[in-house]
Amino acid sequence: MSSATPPDLPTLPGRIRWSSATAAFQIEGARTEGDRGRSVWDTWVDTPGKVKDGSTAEPGADSYHRWTEDVALAKGLGLDRYRFSISWTRIQPDGTGAANSAGLDYYSRLVDDLLEAGVTPFPTLYHWDLPVPLHDAGGWTGRDVVERFTDYAGIVAERLGDRVTNWYTVNEPAMTTLQGYAVGELAPGEFLLFDAIPTAHHQLLAHGHATRVFREHGATAVGVANNHTHVYPLTDSDADRAAAVAYDALHNRLFADPVLTGEYPDMSAYGDVDLPIRDGDMEIIATRPDFYAVNYYNPTTVVATAPDIPIPFEIVPTPGVPTTGFGADWGIKPDSLRDLLIDLAGRYPNLPPIVISENGASFPEPDTADGGIDDVDRIAYIDGHIRAVGEAMSAGVNIEEYTVWSLLDNFEWADGYTQRFGLTHVDFETAKRTPKASYDWYRRVIAENRK
Ligand code: NOJ
Repeated sequence: MSSATPPDLPTLPGRIRWSSATAAFQIEGARTEGDRGRSVWDTWVDTPGKVKDGSTAEPGADSYHRWTEDVALAKGLGLDRYRFSISWTRIQPDGTGAANSAGLDYYSRLVDDLLEAGVTPFPTLYHWDLPVPLHDAGGWTGRDVVERFTDYAGIVAERLGDRVTNWYTVNEPAMTTLQGYAVGELAPGEFLLFDAIPTAHHQLLAHGHATRVFREHGATAVGVANNHTHVYPLTDSDADRAAAVAYDALHNRLFADPVLTGEYPDMSAYGDVDLPIRDGDMEIIATRPDFYAVNYYNPTTVVATAPDIPIPFEIVPTPGVPTTGFGADWGIKPDSLRDLLIDLAGRYPNLPPIVISENGASFPEPDTADGGIDDVDRIAYIDGHIRAVGEAMSAGVNIEEYTVWSLLDNFEWADGYTQRFGLTHVDFETAKRTPKASYDWYRRVIAENRK
C-alpha cells in the first residue's frame, strides 16, 4: 500500500478516550530477571524454528528497564489511557502460590508513573503468557487453570486495586483457542482442531471470575478483549454464505455470545462440539461487563469446502483491497470495522459501550531509524479506521475508546521482529526509541478531537 498522509485530521462526532497498547511478553525482555518464571512463550521462543527470525523477545524493547521512556511516550501523545499487560510469571513464577514482590513492584511503579503523567493505566491481566507448570497440568484444556487465574487476579487486584480501576481480563481468547490450541501456530502450539473448543469455555470462565474479583477490589470498568473480524463470503452462493456463518460462529460468536447473552452460539457446523459447561458457569461468564472490548485488524473472506472436509470454510484473500506487512492475509478495509461495529450493536441489544482495544498495522520498515520513519501507510490505515469508528458512532453505536496497537515496535509472536506495528520505532539492537511520523500525527488527532 502506498499513500499520502490525508490532508485533514479525522474528527469524531462525539468525545471518546484515546489510547495505545502493548503487552508484557512483547516489550519487556528481561526474561530471567526479577525472579520471573517461564511461560509457554518462553518455551516457544527457546525452541529452534518456532520464531520466523529466530528472535527471543530479549532484550527487545527492554521495557523492564525502560518503562519510564514508555510512560514519556504515552504522555507525549496525550493519551487518556495506556493499555499494557501484566506478566503472570512475574507475579507468580510457577502460576500458583505466593506473590513475587519484584514483579508486583515493577507494575506498581509503572502505575504510579502513569498516574503521575496524567495517563490512566488500563492493564490486561492475561496476554497469552501462561506459566509453564500450569500448561504442564493441562493449560486451558483443563478446568483447574480457572481457579489459578482467579487467585492471580486477586493478588494483582490486592496490590494495584487502590490505583487501578480499569481492567481487561483476558486478551483475545479466540487466538489462544484457534491459533494456540487448534492449529498450533502460536504457543502452546497444540494441534487439537475442534478438541480445542473447551479452552474457549475455560478462558471465558476465567474472565467471569476475574471480573468479580476486580469489582470486589473497587474496579469500575472490567471486560474481556475479544478479537473480532467481519466475515465475507467470497461469492453469493448458498455454500459460501453458509461457510461465512460457520466462520463467524467460530471466530466471533463463540467468544462474544456467552459474555453478552449467556449462551453459546449454534456450533453445529463443527459436529459434536464438547463444551464442558457446569452448573452456574454461564451466569459467571455473562457477568455484565462494563464495556465490550474489540480488537480489530482485518476482514476475513471465506469459501465453502467440499462436503467431506470437516472444516467447513477456507480463508482466502479479501479481493480488491490493499494489504499490510502480512500480505494477502491482512487486507485493509476500514468499512469492515464500521460494519462490524454496527452489526455488534444490532446483534446484542444490551451491548455495553464499545472500547476499541486494539487496531493498527505493520509495514516493512528498516531496523534503524536514522533520519526518521515516514510511515504514511500506517497513518492512512489508522486514519481510515478512525473515520470508520466515526461512521459507526454517527449510525448510533456507543463507542467510548479507540486504541492504537502499538505504542512501540515489539515482538510479534511467531513473526518475531519481522512485523513492526509501532507508532514509535525501536532499534532492537539498542532498544533506542524513535517516534515515527504516525506518532506525531496521532498526537495531533488526539489534540484536535479534544477541542
Ligand atoms: C493482537 C494481539 O493482541 C497482539 O499481541 C498482536 O501483536 C496484535 N494482534 C498484532 O498481531
